[in-house]
Amino acid sequence: MNSAVSRDQTAPGLSVANLILEPSSRTRCSFELAEQRLQVEHLTIIEGSSIIKGETLTDTARTLAAMGVNTFVLRHPDVGAPERLASAMGGAHVVNAGDGAGEHPTQGLLDLLTLRRYWGSIEGRTVLIVGDIVHSRVARSNYHGLTTLGGSVMFCGPESLLPLPDEFPEAKISSDLDAALERCDAVMALRIQRERLAHDEVCPDGETFRRQYGLTVDRVTRLRSDVPILHPGPFNRDVEVDSAVADSDRTLIWSQVTAGVAIRMALLVRLSEVRRELGLAAP
Ligand code: CP
Repeated sequence: MNSAVSRDQTAPGLSVANLILEPSSRTRCSFELAEQRLQVEHLTIIEGSSIIKGETLTDTARTLAAMGVNTFVLRHPDVGAPERLASAMGGAHVVNAGDGAGEHPTQGLLDLLTLRRYWGSIEGRTVLIVGDIVHSRVARSNYHGLTTLGGSVMFCGPESLLPLPDEFPEAKISSDLDAALERCDAVMALRIQRERLAHDEVCPDGETFRRQYGLTVDRVTRLRSDVPILHPGPFNRDVEVDSAVADSDRTLIWSQVTAGVAIRMALLVRLSEVRRELGLAAP
């Protein structure tokens, strides 16, 4: 992952539809830029597609496949939507660009790349992920990536937003942020995903959350000076991270965004190679 994709690299044979059926800025724009920089034919559907007229996602994808599209980048509110589309669209590639509270694999990869560039290696490092863990696809994908590369994960947040330990057997789970901050090598703040809260779910208001779990100036002042701060974005200033912290040189937030284009370019190059290895036709 350290080798950058060069500026003159292309990804022949791909025709991509970005199906962005839940709000996105970073993921959508970085996939689009990756496609442009690799000279890959692409289009983006955000809203206003025939899905709002009652067409199924599969029929939209079949319509695009009939035009020669062979790769779908799907952002969707439902967990498992990319797998279901892939099953229905045998022969096409489906990339998960975030499925509800499920997974966000390319975000996980860009976070790994950011941390590997910062440390050189993930092995033996502990990443503390703070906030709304239970609804977070970013937390899930980071857990899988970090533990695969020999890192450790701690989750911290309000009791009501913590996951069951069974789902993350290798993670340490706690509600004591100040204690967890003393034992981590990096800290990643997460947004409360109020749009995913069920009616009966308990969740602190913004000010309470900031006081108990926010990366405030006071907390960051006490943090070891070599511990970087990450956030996948979008972030709420002065809720999960103080504005002065977000704007300081302690954060890797903008490095994460930059890494997102490289990761999505690398993914598309690999998909192009796979198509060539399998002898699949260009559009
Ligand atoms: N981090 C992330 O997925 O951001 P977007 O929702 O803006 O794509």
